[in-house]
Amino acid sequence: MKITIIGSGHVGLVSGLCFAEKGHQVLCIDHDADKVAKLTALKPTFHEPGLEAMLKKHGASGAIKFSTSTAEGVAFGETIFVCVSTPSMPDGNVDMRFFEAVSRGIAETMTEYRLIIEKSTVPIQTSEHMRRTIERYATKDVPFDVASNPEFLREGAAIQDTLHPDRIIIGTNSARAEKLLREVYADFDAPIVATSIPSSEMIKLASNAFLATRLSFMNAIARVCELGGADVDEVARGMGLDPRIGPHFLKAGIGYGGSCFPKDVEGLYHVSAALGYDFELLGEVQDINEDQWLYFVDRLERELWTLNGKKIALWGASFKPHTDDIRDAPSVKIARELVARGASVHVSDPVAIEHLRREVPEAIAEATPLAACQSADALLLATEWPQFLDIDPQEVAKAMRVRLAFDGRNALDRARWVEAGFEVHSVGRKVQR
Ligand code: UGA
Repeated sequence: MKITIIGSGHVGLVSGLCFAEKGHQVLCIDHDADKVAKLTALKPTFHEPGLEAMLKKHGASGAIKFSTSTAEGVAFGETIFVCVSTPSMPDGNVDMRFFEAVSRGIAETMTEYRLIIEKSTVPIQTSEHMRRTIERYATKDVPFDVASNPEFLREGAAIQDTLHPDRIIIGTNSARAEKLLREVYADFDAPIVATSIPSSEMIKLASNAFLATRLSFMNAIARVCELGGADVDEVARGMGLDPRIGPHFLKAGIGYGGSCFPKDVEGLYHVSAALGYDFELLGEVQDINEDQWLYFVDRLERELWTLNGKKIALWGASFKPHTDDIRDAPSVKIARELVARGASVHVSDPVAIEHLRREVPEAIAEATPLAACQSADALLLATEWPQFLDIDPQEVAKAMRVRLAFDGRNALDRARWVEAGFEVHSVGRKVQR
């Protein structure tokens, strides 16, 4: 099939490449000419495992192509996936200007039937706004359908998640649209759940908000564990064996980040309010998450008496391992706060340091994790990259001025670090020394 993707960011590019992998012809559109030039030269625009190889493979064979022209995209594919960003506005509402502009662009250039599919996470009723906008701006009387097909990929595992999804949700209101979407996914081995369009939109938002709620719940449990002498990892293991709960997304830490959970929780909260429901629970979920990294900094400050003039080694800049994405990353907030409290922050990250330094220019980039620890008063692990977990704590001990480790992800092998002379502080567990 010929498929057009509008918006070639994380979701659009990965989806396009995976459609090409399944034998479709794909044209990816983006309004950013620099991005299109880079992709046309088969250079990846962000870090994602496996992305470069796939781009080279399908770019070289011509299965995927790139352009800045919406008109070209609309002429190319009968199915058009809209994957443009939906950023949060300062008041927490979702900014839909890119969706609106794309809908108009499609309306003005469409000359025969098109299926327009929202793939980005969007507020419910977005498809209805798209349909109305396309009808309003259409220059010819051309039949079209809109549909919803949310993506569930995780950054850092995006290609695997897209090629092997656990479910494919297709929200449609016409048999023609459903048939086309089933054809797109004919070679994917996953259950297809066909729903109404609002249900499909809600499945995505509710899934992300539910996972974020689980994390904030566990982070709140971690606080009580600290006060009551329990160990949150033991508690999570015990809870997770209940099949009704399951073991995933129970790991306490310095809070969730990334481009999805924070935005989607906030977005669902605001959409609910606009529809007339006060979703107070989601307000709490956000407050707990925001408190989690700040409380960790407070604990570090209490331990060092003052952060002023202290050298802190910060391991991790990205919001989670295997990505260079720093959007809403606790590490960035921590770096900024440490600097504000007078510390000098020495950061190590396999791929994301420069992104962090754009946000916190005072942070000092170090070439290796050990270099960051040289004469440091404390080490703070913010992102659990395997490269950090593999380091011998004896080597870190030799570098540090003070053998003090703050593990924000409960990821270090505590016994080995204690053996190397460290005092290890973590989340929801007793201090070990
Ligand atoms: C999330 C969802 O998992 C995807 O299904 C969804 O498609 C995506 O958002 C999206 O809406 O596009 P992602 O943001 O890439 O994916 O990252 P996750 O792996 O879900 O992690 C989110 C955050 O939760 C990270 O900051 C991670 O460190 C944190 N986390 C995760 C924990 O603190 N504890 C855990 O047990 C798991």
